[in-house]
This record gives sequence, structure tokens and C-alpha cells, in this order.
Amino acid sequence: MVDRYAVFGNPIAHSKSPRIHNLFAQQTGESVEYSALLSEPEEFAQDVMMFLVTGGKGCNVTVPFKQEAWELADELSAYAARAKAVNTLAFRDDGTLYGANTDGIGIVRDLQQNHGIALQGQRILLLGAGGAVRGVLQPLLEAHPFSLFIANRTAAKATELAQDFTEFARVAGGGFDEISGQFDLIINGTAASLQGDLPPLPAGCLAEGGSTYDMMYAAKPTAFVQWGRAQGAAKALDGLGMLVEQAAEAFFIWRGVRPDTAPILAQLRAELGG
Ligand code: ATR
Repeated sequence: MVDRYAVFGNPIAHSKSPRIHNLFAQQTGESVEYSALLSEPEEFAQDVMMFLVTGGKGCNVTVPFKQEAWELADELSAYAARAKAVNTLAFRDDGTLYGANTDGIGIVRDLQQNHGIALQGQRILLLGAGGAVRGVLQPLLEAHPFSLFIANRTAAKATELAQDFTEFARVAGGGFDEISGQFDLIINGTAASLQGDLPPLPAGCLAEGGSTYDMMYAAKPTAFVQWGRAQGAAKALDGLGMLVEQAAEAFFIWRGVRPDTAPILAQLRAELGG
């Protein structure tokens, strides 16, 4: 019997999750079939329930339904509870719906394990204060950076977000014009690069030997990856590895088996071209 999984989102046609999970299934020999399902606004909860009631074992959730998925879950992982967002739902045998958020684990694994970028003791600048940033904040802070500054176009959103997470580390928030000093790692979690835009960053804010990370990815280097290269970043990375790592953690939650992500990331990169 093949177990069915899916990703829900809108839009969803270009999602790489089916490709990633079907490669995981092939690699691990797990009997898994994974598809992409479009949900209309207002119909997400109903669509998920229909999927589960008709035999689906679990699903991923992407934009714009992560918060609705958080509301839908009967039980939440600590990260999902804190992020107020769920990207992985698992239907348990007792009929309850478990919600997790694997995005933060995904970025931390990609940075530390795939790219050898230690977070401990580092000065981190995190750009953006929307759902994407909230989703990764706790795991980043638990890696014990020296400090973390959240900068956002709407300064108040960054300040409020920082205030929610002060127990973990030195964390503060503000507008782009409040960025000062130098950072060892600059992470872009704004939607700016989707529009080919770049957050306004002061010259010299990347420390010597520092790296940059765009949570977005594209076939061609994103505007933020290009900016990182122009600043002389040791590594100017995009978010394809984060995507594969968050998927691997979801696969582990569902199947109890951890895929080997390196060959799958290499294959995806080759398929992406650019
Ligand atoms: P997501 O769930 O992808 O984070 P979101 O919650 O709508 O989406 O947040 C988008 C983030 O990108 C916000 O931080 C937004 O800044 P504002 O809070 O000021 O709206 C940021 N953003 C979007 N377009 C941007 C641009 N062109 N330049 C800078 N920041 C941008």
C-alpha cells in the first residue's frame, strides 16, 4: 500500500516539494506518493480534511495557508506554536492532527551542516519580519548567536517580533535605517528578491569573511545573492538547501526515516539549471 502525502498552497504548480519527496521515497525505499494540491482561499481547511479522510497520511502547507494550518492542528510542536505557523501536518492513528514547523530546522541545517557556517557567537542580521522570518527565528536563536538584529521595511513589525523572542538571546529589531555595525551573517527573509528588489543595506555592513543567505532561490542568482557576491561574501547562498532540509525533516516526522539530503540537493540544483 502506498501512503499518500501532498503539499497545499496557492499558487502551487511550480512547487518542488513533490519532486523532493518522491526522490526521498525512491532513496529510502519508503512507499510514499506525494502530489501538489491547489487550495482556494476559504477552502483550505476543508481540502485538508478531505485529503486526510480519504486516506492521506499528512501534508505540507505553503503560502498562504501556514497560519490556517496552525489553527487547524490539535497539537503543535514547540517551534510551530511559537512561530504561529505550520508547514507540516501529520494525521495520527488516534485521529488527531499534529502540526510542526520545519522551516527553521531547515535553514539551520543548511547553514551549519551543508555549508559549515557556524551560528554560535556570530552577529546575525535578519531582513524581514513576516511569516517567513517568524518561522525560523527560534531555531536560529537556539544556535546561540552573539546577537541577532531583525530589520524590516515596517520597523514596528521588527521591533514587536524581537520583543516576542528576547528570552533566547540578544535580539532587537528596527527599520533598515537602524542597521549599524557589521554582521557575520546576513539572512534575507523579505519577499523583496521575488520582485528582483533589494532591501536598502548600508555599505560595509557585511564583516570581513562574513556570508549571506537568501531564503528565496531561483534558477539565476537572486538580487540578494548577487549583492552578497558584490560585497565579497565568503559564501553567498540561496534557499534551495533550506527547502530540501525542511522537506527532509517533514519526511522524518511522517516516516521516522531520515533521507540523505546531499545527493538530492545536488540533483535539484542541476535540474534548476542556471
Ligand atoms: P512571508 O510569509 O513570505 O514572510 P509576509 O508575511 O507578507 O510574507 O512578509 C513579507 C516580508 O517581506 C515583510 O517583512 C515585508 O516588509 P513589510 O513588513 O514592511 O511589508 C517584506 N517585503 C516585501 N517586499 C519588500 C520590498 N520590496 N522591500 C523590502 N521588504 C519587502
